[in-house]
This record gives sequence, structure tokens and C-alpha cells, in this order.
Amino acid sequence: MGDLYRLDGGGDTLVLQQTAGAPRLIYWGEPLTHDLAGAAALAERVTRGTIDGGEVFDLFPEAGRGFTGQPAFECHRDSGDFVTQLEPLSAVQDGQRVVFRLADPKAGVEVAVTVELDQQSGVASFRSRILNRGPTPLHLDWAAGALPLAFDDLLLFDGRWAREFKTSRQRLPAGMLVRENRTGRTSHHSPPFMVAGEPGFSERNGETLGLHFAWSGNHRLLVERMRDGRLQAQAGEFFWPGELTLGEGEAYETPILYAARSSTGTNGLTSRFHPFVRTRILSDRLAGKPRPVNFDTWEAVYFRHDLAELKALADLAAEIGAERFVLDDGWFKGRPNDTAGLGDWTPDPAKYPDGLTPLVEHVQSLGLAFGLWVEPEMANADSDLLRRRPDWILGVAGRKQPLGRNQYVLDLTRPEVFENIFEQIHALLAGNAISYLKWDMNRDLTHPASGGRPAAHRQTLAVYALIDRVRAAHPGVEIEDCSSGGGRADFEMLKRTDRVWLSDCNDPIERQAMQKAFTIFFPPEVMGAHVAATADHTTGRRASMDFRAMTALFGHMGIEADVRAFTDSERAALKRWIGVYKTHRALIHSGRLSRQPVSDPAALAFMIAGDTEALASYAQLQVRANVSPDPLRLKGLEPDATYRILMLAPAASPTASDPVLVRGEAVQASGQAIARTGLPLPPLRPGSVALFHLTRMDQDP
Ligand code: DGJ
Repeated sequence: MGDLYRLDGGGDTLVLQQTAGAPRLIYWGEPLTHDLAGAAALAERVTRGTIDGGEVFDLFPEAGRGFTGQPAFECHRDSGDFVTQLEPLSAVQDGQRVVFRLADPKAGVEVAVTVELDQQSGVASFRSRILNRGPTPLHLDWAAGALPLAFDDLLLFDGRWAREFKTSRQRLPAGMLVRENRTGRTSHHSPPFMVAGEPGFSERNGETLGLHFAWSGNHRLLVERMRDGRLQAQAGEFFWPGELTLGEGEAYETPILYAARSSTGTNGLTSRFHPFVRTRILSDRLAGKPRPVNFDTWEAVYFRHDLAELKALADLAAEIGAERFVLDDGWFKGRPNDTAGLGDWTPDPAKYPDGLTPLVEHVQSLGLAFGLWVEPEMANADSDLLRRRPDWILGVAGRKQPLGRNQYVLDLTRPEVFENIFEQIHALLAGNAISYLKWDMNRDLTHPASGGRPAAHRQTLAVYALIDRVRAAHPGVEIEDCSSGGGRADFEMLKRTDRVWLSDCNDPIERQAMQKAFTIFFPPEVMGAHVAATADHTTGRRASMDFRAMTALFGHMGIEADVRAFTDSERAALKRWIGVYKTHRALIHSGRLSRQPVSDPAALAFMIAGDTEALASYAQLQVRANVSPDPLRLKGLEPDATYRILMLAPAASPTASDPVLVRGEAVQASGQAIARTGLPLPPLRPGSVALFHLTRMDQDP
């Protein structure tokens, strides 16, 4: 039996065993007191009728060692060599992190597999580094993080533009399920996340494992039931043919596969991922920093920028309570619509004859911060930049490439292109009082080639480097991560951004469902959520101001509408809701979010609980199932504590026979009673929300 390595974090123990090859995961769960050897003995499996001695099943399975499933690693040399048989060199543990070094001198390959368990949250990270020790080029075909799965009930994520973070459930009786993304960005249709759990797991119950592959380029995520019945999950970069070749002494490092485990369904995963994101991904940079109410101009004016009109919008936005004015697409040189202008990051002289200063100063005089939309990775053929340097794009010389939104992707792997774009953004930020960038990215990488070779991998790293450089030069500037809505939402982008624009769909019915899925991994303070027009611009569906505002309240709230078109009473209602957001944002952006069980399939409920208070919402999306709705049984409060409960919305019912709480009076009850008996709900119409605030009272002596 090989050596055992034990990692502890977040109330979990994870045990790894050194094998004749890579380490294998033999235990992950509640803390083990001492019994590591027992766990190792139990991790053995019966094998018959396959490879003598059974197939390896570790964190880096190789075909060369007799693994007939999808190996974690595939490579070849021009000589035809493709077999690797890695053997352990060393394993070094440092705190809650172990680095296993493996080598195959014959193949000229060295690998380091690093496993770390975050001490506070219990989120694990898996990453490998592959080094070419041989004298000839080593072509990498696949290099992934691989994990054994205990269960095959899968919660999968897909979506499209304006309908992000859609989920589906699926079992896997045999074979392989692959989710692939070749769009060159994290993607709408195949975000690299997944939950695998015991059959029937729910928000509150069941063993679950949540996987998040932190990479903003191409990827493959797969689950395989191997021929002997065991299950594995893998996540790795998808490489175009010949894309990743290592010269002698060169190394490739896989993106990080983050994973968390829970015995209490997806809420248990959230209770690990949110603190992990707050401290480790965001490095605490949003902690205690109120998320200002954004006013975004996009759906208010689109490309029609008129200084007087924008000033008037800013006036109204300030009056309603906005704290940051974000000038969206349309402000820069030669940008009448989406066919021209990208690449030239100076104000359009026709729309802004005196530059941005008059608008910035006006916005600032109202007490608002100023933010600006940019799409630095792109250029239109109709731009000074590409007229001068038509060769600065990703693509294959002599080939016409299909465009997306009429634009090309700039080849940021070329130092001169990178420098040019950095200098343009740097000049913008240095020359104007801009404290926020909405960093957009609106097309797929269809011909991702540079210098005649595939370059999606290098381009993704260059994008990271560009954002990092902008941040380093302007540490006070916050950045919003946008990609036609939520097309580039992942932890690696979030390391260098402060907000994710979840979707171009602001319809609260759609948003409630997206927010449910998104918040499994991401905390509310990074979730851009706007109150838009009464009739949503992408669905055409109308929603009340209360419903729109209460949905946006649970994220980083903003406004994105022509507020002049709102009636006085709509503006007053929005102002009230922004007041509610400001009152509660410290709680919303630091508390423990849970998705609450509801019996009505046409409803969704959330709670965010802090130590002394909580906020809970119950959204009725369609016609309610029953005359008397089941009460909202809020799980997750302190059972013995007493709470003062107040219904903040809808307006109190005047009907004398309605429950006291629904009549707008405060009620006191224990966490236990709230969880078991539940909060009585008002008779909600479709497209409305009930909102409750709970204050923890001092406990009886
Ligand atoms: C796509 C984004 O998702 C929108 O919010 C908006 O910024 C447009 N791009 C502007 O072109």
C-alpha cells in the first residue's frame, strides 16, 4: 500500500494514496479521526475480465498503464511515440497541499499533479503541469483534471445568448457524456460546471460533488461510466489539432479544476463555493465594499448617444438612487451601429466633440462614479486600427473567416497588438475619471490562428495578461466581465474582474431561474442584475416594477432602461426598492445564500442569512398551484433563536381574515417554527414576489 496523504479543510478530510503511478483519491468526506489505512483498504475494488490486476483509477489515468477509458493525458511525438507510463518521483506535502511528481524518462515526460484543499471552505483544486524532457517536440492532445465520481445523477448546465445558465438532469448508465466548447470563450451553451450527486439529490439533500473548471477558452467536460462500471469526470482544455506542442524543457500547466463536496445537496456546495470565491478567487477585494447601484445606458439608448439626453438620464438615475453611471457601447469613434468602430478607443468626435469630460463631469457632479464600456479584444474592418493593420487579427492568411457581430478578434498573442490595445485602454483610463470598465467580448473565435498555428490557448492567456496589466496600472478601476451577457463567467475571469454580467435578458421570470443556477457557484455580489424596461427587450414579456426590482435586489443591483419612459409612480417604486437594496446590501453581499424548497413548481425561493438577520424571497413565476399556497418553510436559520419577521412586500393585505404576517404586522417565532410551520404567504399573482425580513432577537437568558 502506498503512502497516504491527508488534507483537511472546511470540516472535510481528503485522503490521497500514492500508487505505482499517479495518486488516487480514496476518501473525501467528514473528518476522519485516524483510520486512513482502513479507508485505503476499503478503496480496493474487485476486478475480473479486464486488464490483469484491474485498470488503474487515479487522478491521472494513462492508457500506457492499462487504462481503457478516457485517459487524463494523451500526447505523441512525430516519431510515433505515444505511450507514457509515469512513475512516482516524489510527493511533498505543505499544509493542505500536496505536489506529486511523476516521470517517465523513456517518454521524456514529467508531470506534477497538485492537489489542494482550502482550509476554510473545503473547496479542492486540482492542477497538473506537464514538462517535455525529451529532445523532440511533444504534442499534447489532451491534459485534464480527472476525478472519480461516486454517483451518476448529473446536474448539467447549458444555455444560449439571453438564456444563460439553464440546467438539466441526466443519469449516465453507460458510456460517455461530453460537453464541449470550441467558441474560444467560456461559452453560453456549455459553461464548464457540473454537479454529480446521489440519485434524486436536491437543493437541500444528498451527496453531491460540484465541479468548476476555471478556464475562459475552449474546453471539454466529460463524465464516463467505464466498462467496469466505475465513474469518472474530467475537465480539460480542448486543443485544436497541433495547438499545444512543447519544445524541450517547455511545460504546460492545466487550468484549475475546482471541486467541492457536500452531504446537503447543492446548498451545501454553495456554502463552500461562496466563501471560497469571496476569499480565494476575489482575494477579499469586495469584502465590506458596498456594490454601487449601476445605471447602464445600453437598453436606454443603444447606439444613439446624445450628450443632452445622456445628461438627462444621469439626472434621473441619480434622483432614483443610482451611484454609478456606465456609458455602454456607442461612445467611441465611428460607431453608429455594430458594424464599425471597434479598435479605435477614443470618443467619437461627432457625438462627443469635447471628449467624454463634459459627461464625466456632469455625472460626477451628481455624485455618481463613471464607468465605460470597452471591447478591447475586437476590431471592425471599418476602423482606423484595421485599416492600418489589417493583419492584426486572429485568422489564417488567405482564408476568409466567418465573422461574429461583424467583427474580428485581435491577435493579442502578438506583442505589438497587445501593446497597442493596452496603451489605448491605459490612455483612456489615465485621461478620464473612469473608475469602472464594462469589459465585453462578443464573438466566437472561429479561426483562432496566429502565425499559421492554432492559438486559442495562447489568446486566452493573452486576454488574462491584458486585463492583469490594466488592473496593475489602474488598481482603483473595477472591471465587469461581460461576453454577450454571461458568455465568459468562470472563476479564472473572476480572479481579475469584479462583476459578471449574467445575461442580456432582464426579464425577471428568466432571471429568477438563471439566478438559481448561477448562485450554486457564484455569490450574489458579483451577479450583475438590472431593472429594465416594463416589457423586456429580449422576451417582450411585461413585468411589474416590484417583480423586476425584487429580482435584481438579490444580486449587484442596477438599472438599465430609459427611466424617462417610466411613470412617476414607477420611478418612485424603483427609488424605494433601491433604498431597500442599500439598506440590505451588506447582508446580501456577505450572507449565506440558499435556494429554498418550495412545493409549487411555478415558484422559486431564496434566502440570504447573516448572523443577525435574513432576507427571504418567494417569487411566483406562473399561476400558483393552490388557493392557499404552502407556507415558505425557511431552512437554515438558527433553530433555537427567535426572529422578528416582517413582510416587506407585497403591500399589506387589508383582509382581516388573512394571517397577521400577511396583514403587515411583525411576528416573532423561533428558527425551528419558521422551518417547520413556515411563513404564511400572501395570494401572489403570477409575476410577483413576497419579500420577508427577519431579525434575530436576543435569545432568552
Ligand atoms: C453585449 C452586452 O451583453 C450588452 O450588455 C451590451 O453591452 C452590448 N454588448 C453592447 O454592444
